[in-house]
Amino acid sequence: MRRGMLLILAAFCCSLAAPALAASEARHPHPQAWSFAKPLGTFDQASVQRGYQVYEEVCSACHSLSALSYRNLGDKGGPFAAYRAKNHETGAEEVRIGPSAHGGKFISPNDNPAVKAIAAKFDVSEIDGTTGDIVQRPARPADRFASPFVNEAAARAANGGAYPPDLSVITRARHGGADYIYALLTGYGEAPPPGVEEVPGKHYNPYFRGGWVAMAPQLTPDRVSFTDGSPSTPDQMARDVASFLEWAGDPKAELRKKMGVAVLGYLLALTLLLFFAYRQIWRGEKH
Ligand code: HEC
Repeated sequence: MRRGMLLILAAFCCSLAAPALAASEARHPHPQAWSFAKPLGTFDQASVQRGYQVYEEVCSACHSLSALSYRNLGDKGGPFAAYRAKNHETGAEEVRIGPSAHGGKFISPNDNPAVKAIAAKFDVSEIDGTTGDIVQRPARPADRFASPFVNEAAARAANGGAYPPDLSVITRARHGGADYIYALLTGYGEAPPPGVEEVPGKHYNPYFRGGWVAMAPQLTPDRVSFTDGSPSTPDQMARDVASFLEWAGDPKAELRKKMGVAVLGYLLALTLLLFFAYRQIWRGEKH
């Protein structure tokens, strides 16, 4: 009997200790107001475009994004989708980059000037058809995003033994998704709690599991100078790159939502039609 009581008491104490342990693991990221988080929400494409700029200028030095091809940037629903439309004032045809606010003819990502310009900034290697040598050539829209390191060993060697993970599906792979990316990137600078031992070569960040991350703070003020004139604050850069990574984790999400709405509308119309047809057919019949 006494043993049973003791066991219950021990279990009770453990249950009290468990949340404390979990809390020292990693702090929970605060939910942010993302435009894409609502059931029918869409991406703020200007933010996703800026987020791509942050990835290109900062993160791509260490992190690959290997599930994505450059052409995905110009797909429908992508941040650099291009449309050919008539300028109402001049009457001339022009190419518009970004969401198709006023219609226009969609340009294939392979011919999209913005995507071609982005791809051409990177080199990819291929085997020369005649000599068999490995040669470098500028990337084309159909190529996968270039990786900063040839393999994991090279990536670890350049990062003090730590591995910068591929970011293709990071918002799916981590609890908290875009909130976590935002919290991690802006979560440096706090002093570790008293009694927590310093880990040499690592940086304290309460949102990272274990608290010590090998990635140094990246988004210092003015790290990126945004082409659209947005303020280059750490908060803005983190928000934008988190939006970009959310989009990159599922580039077709927005199209799927639109398709879902269209399908529901169709089914609703069909249901109404069937209902009235049923009423018409059975009109005047006793049943
Ligand atoms: C100088 C190299 C470097 C740069 C630049 C860099 N990172 Fe990292 N990053 C790392 C390393 C190394 C790790 C692994 C950390 C660890 O395991 O302790 C990492 C880890 C991460 C993680 C994973 C954390 C987890 O939960 O496992 C995310 C997310 C991340 N980085 C996002 C970014 C973003 C977004 C950028 C651009 C704003 C960026 N990083 C720029 C080196 C870098």
